[in-house]
Amino acid sequence: MDRMFHVIEAQQFDRELMGEIFSVTKEMEEVVSRYGSSILNRRIMATLFYEPSTRTRLSFESAMIRLGGNVVTTESAREFSSAAKGETLEDTIRIVEGYADVIVMRHFESGAARRAADVASVPILNAGDGPGQHPTQALLDVYTIKKEIGRLDGITVAMVGDLANGRTVRSLAYLLARYDDVKLFFVAPEVVRMKQDIKEYLDRHGVHFEEKEDLIEVAQQSDVIYQTRIQRERFGDRIADYESARGKYIVDSNTMEALPEAGRVLHPLPRIDEIAPEVDGDPRAAYFRQAHNGIYIRMALLRMVLEA
Ligand code: CP
Repeated sequence: MDRMFHVIEAQQFDRELMGEIFSVTKEMEEVVSRYGSSILNRRIMATLFYEPSTRTRLSFESAMIRLGGNVVTTESAREFSSAAKGETLEDTIRIVEGYADVIVMRHFESGAARRAADVASVPILNAGDGPGQHPTQALLDVYTIKKEIGRLDGITVAMVGDLANGRTVRSLAYLLARYDDVKLFFVAPEVVRMKQDIKEYLDRHGVHFEEKEDLIEVAQQSDVIYQTRIQRERFGDRIADYESARGKYIVDSNTMEALPEAGRVLHPLPRIDEIAPEVDGDPRAAYFRQAHNGIYIRMALLRMVLEA
């Protein structure tokens, strides 16, 4: 456990550390069923969110409260923190670390969590940095796959949608590369294909991946379809590019017909229209269960960084 202080990027987690985290996460499921614990009594978590969030911020806050700790928070930090007056991120961190034992931060710039960690004396947990990474989401995604499918070695995962801007798929690719015989399919509209740095990383680590166009063909060969939203907010004035990507790959009843009986559909959420509502009632639709696993993973991470 002493290997983890900040949580910045998925590459910092090896298989052994993920095993430790998942074991604590399992304990946290039991803690929640007993209505919580006081192990982080009197500890304070600050959540600094410069971009919108429902799941990540509220599950971190709920996780801290479930463990007996307290929360100070600013959402819309671009407007409601002193960033609006021109304060640098580094100065904000130097101040907030005096008020809290751990800082959970979501920022609009890739690399912001690393900048925060470089000046922080308390743990920084990256809750998403622009199109960079979302390591706590990827940990809960891997935990969900293990829980739903029963294994990680030999798994075939189809990543679908906005693979260029999706920080969750980037972090998830790094984590899945730690397991044996993993196969990845990338199914993305032309303008948002998986970036070269991830493909080079997978090549270097001997992870088999293929870029495909036919979602039905891919669904037939996958254990997990990991669908993602086309992120309008990352396109700026490239409206035509956004429109060309939006709606190209939708998980619907035809996709579910192609997916094996033991397969699962995951999505980091929020979704817009890339999973049809008709899919929600299928037992293989695991995305709401996946979001609920976020609280257990975040309880485990808070416990591990604060008790280290
Ligand atoms: N998955 C995820 O990060 O959701 P939020 O943006 O609602 O936190």
